Amino acid sequence: MERQELEQTATALIAKGKGILAADETVPTLTKRFATLKIESTEDSRRAYRELFFTTPDVSEFISGVILQDETIRQKNASSTPLAEVLSKQGIIPGIKVDTGAKVLAGSPEEKVTEGLDGLRDRLKEYRALGARFAKWRAVIRITETLPSPMCISVNAHALARYAAICQEQNIVPIVEPEVLMDGSHTIERCEEVTSSVLHAVFHALFEQCVRLEGMLLKPNMVISGKECRRQASVDEVATATLRCLRRHVPAAVPGIVFLSGGQSDVLATAHLNAINRLDLLKPWKISFSYGRALQDPAIEAWRGKQQNVKAGQQAFYFRAKCNSASALGKYTPGLEGKKSGGETAVHRSDWHDD
Ligand code: 13P
Repeated sequence: MERQELEQTATALIAKGKGILAADETVPTLTKRFATLKIESTEDSRRAYRELFFTTPDVSEFISGVILQDETIRQKNASSTPLAEVLSKQGIIPGIKVDTGAKVLAGSPEEKVTEGLDGLRDRLKEYRALGARFAKWRAVIRITETLPSPMCISVNAHALARYAAICQEQNIVPIVEPEVLMDGSHTIERCEEVTSSVLHAVFHALFEQCVRLEGMLLKPNMVISGKECRRQASVDEVATATLRCLRRHVPAAVPGIVFLSGGQSDVLATAHLNAINRLDLLKPWKISFSYGRALQDPAIEAWRGKQQNVKAGQQAFYFRAKCNSASALGKYTPGLEGKKSGGETAVHRSDWHDD
């Protein structure tokens, strides 16, 4: 019975043409993001920001689930409906970030290990009671000339698998997110090499800890050139390298792969997802999105903390969700972008993911 529920939830999250909105920035991270646009960060302004997304008319056509964080899952709208219920009433599945952040890795201080296993079982019970049906844990792996260390890969893979096993025990679908960062001047080839090692270690740890692959989703980075690399790989090169890497390392029993955007521009993240889906190679999993910045940035820029801009923010979000939905089906064309209002075409977004 529980197995069935896990698999049903995982399958619903990757329903045809749908993907996930990551709206789980911690309070300090969202506060930093607000500050760049001179928006005051209060419990109320953060709630108003999240409500903009959660009440966008008809966005459930494209969005299957939303990742929340601790503050948001406890918040209610003006008529006292919990925000998680605002989502579930529209058929959007609420999820929750459960790691407590990436902390300095003892023994290799230039690297990080994600914490949050202590007390996780009890927190999951509470989050489930608050409506969460899936969870997220993000590990970060940094590339330099000498990093990542084998230790960093191994401890993060182990923690991801411990988290995933505890989630499944609590009937919550784990999204397993090992993110190889795009910060740095490394080549796409180096990114592929590191992503391969990371995925290999992660699936080995998941196997050792008896995680049921049918009841989880993988949230990886795309295989991409480092932000400061002088030669930026083309969209087709990114798609080819990414799919090659995933086909080599992700078992077919995993129902879905939902990419993070990782600091790519909104338009590029959409184009890459589309190109991956269009490649004429066997893909045993659904391939979709679980974007944070690439879905939110145009909306926050339109909103800027002002009630009178909510509609413009919602239009911007709806538009990006629609484009990414088309990409999840391999049906996006750059011509679609011409129809948006305002927008952004820079290659890379600002940094504002959680530490
Ligand atoms: P980005 O798409 O902004 O990378 O965020 C996704 C996410 O959930 C990071 O943990």
